[in-house]
Amino acid sequence: MIYERILRPLLFKTTDAEFIHGVAAFILQHNPALPLIAPLLRADDEPVQLWRLKFRNRLGLAAGFDKEAALVKAFWRLGFGHTEIGTVTRHAQPGNPKPRVFRCPREGGLVNRMGFPNSGADAIADRLTRLRLAWGKPDYPIGVNIGKSKITELADAAGDYLYSFKKLHAVGDYFVVNVSSPNTPGLRNLQSVEALRPILSTLQAANRELGEKPLLLKIAPDLNYADIAGLLALIAGQGLHGIVATNTTLDHRAITLTETGGLSGRPLTVKSTEIIKFIAKETGGKLPIIGVGGVFTRADYQEKLDAGASLVQLYTGFIYRGPFAARKILRGR
Ligand SMILES: Cc1cc2nc3c(=O)[nH]c(=O)nc-3n(C[C@H](O)[C@H](O)[C@H](O)COP(=O)(O)O)c2cc1C
Repeated sequence: MIYERILRPLLFKTTDAEFIHGVAAFILQHNPALPLIAPLLRADDEPVQLWRLKFRNRLGLAAGFDKEAALVKAFWRLGFGHTEIGTVTRHAQPGNPKPRVFRCPREGGLVNRMGFPNSGADAIADRLTRLRLAWGKPDYPIGVNIGKSKITELADAAGDYLYSFKKLHAVGDYFVVNVSSPNTPGLRNLQSVEALRPILSTLQAANRELGEKPLLLKIAPDLNYADIAGLLALIAGQGLHGIVATNTTLDHRAITLTETGGLSGRPLTVKSTEIIKFIAKETGGKLPIIGVGGVFTRADYQEKLDAGASLVQLYTGFIYRGPFAARKILRGR
């Protein structure tokens, strides 16, 4: 309440959305009060098991907020049931020039063109290794979202993904192949079955060698149903373990803001739910789905589960509803 009525209007006055995200991340990481209030935020657990991993509840943090795996503990303390770090790329890279995150508060959306800024697979693997040694929560899986480095040619994408995957395999609980960000030039071309097959088969071969862990594909909401059906067949053929639906959309018809980039939040709620329904129907409910896109309230969360998602994630809803978003949603608000 305090966040949504008082703090958010103040924070949203600052035009630089990414700066505010950074301040929030800093507070989350260093706030000495967080460990003390953590027990209060844990009252809403409804444990569930998936891919032989234990989740204390079905609500997780979507990729993109904790790109560096610096906030894993903080989001556990805030009541989330899992977190997805990244997108991590093989090479460290700065991302696109700032500003690159924009709010559209009237429509409950965010537009971003971050372009995967991150310190690279080696550094992030080291950070996660240190975290795992110091702190392990058996009921709080850490997903690792991997993407293609900007400097790597599309033709060499498989090797680029493979490097990050191998580097992080030991420290992640599940892995997401991200070919659906609109902000790395050409990346979405990798969503075609022909382009994706060699990438997924390379990763699955390594996965089986290293000790198979859940490997998922994250898709864009801008694909048509025939394309999605093609990808589902590929996922089945390659023995992947699930799908994350969806990433941000390039369809800006719902907003008046004219910035380029991927749109998330409220304008995406219905679209992503429709896609989840389609996937659940196509796969007879057998392929685990992580449902993401415009989840702000308990009703949005429940709709994703009813559509066929096994787990739900949010990003934009966290920005709009504040630090206690997970608790609010799990408690029914
Ligand atoms: C600022 C921002 C950065 C994001 N970065 C990533 C990313 O690095 N990798 C990724 O797979 N998705 C990324 N996403 C997409 C989210 O994970 C999610 O799929 C999308 O925003 C829809 O969910 P939402 O409406 O709850 O935000 C990002 C989203 C936002 C708003």
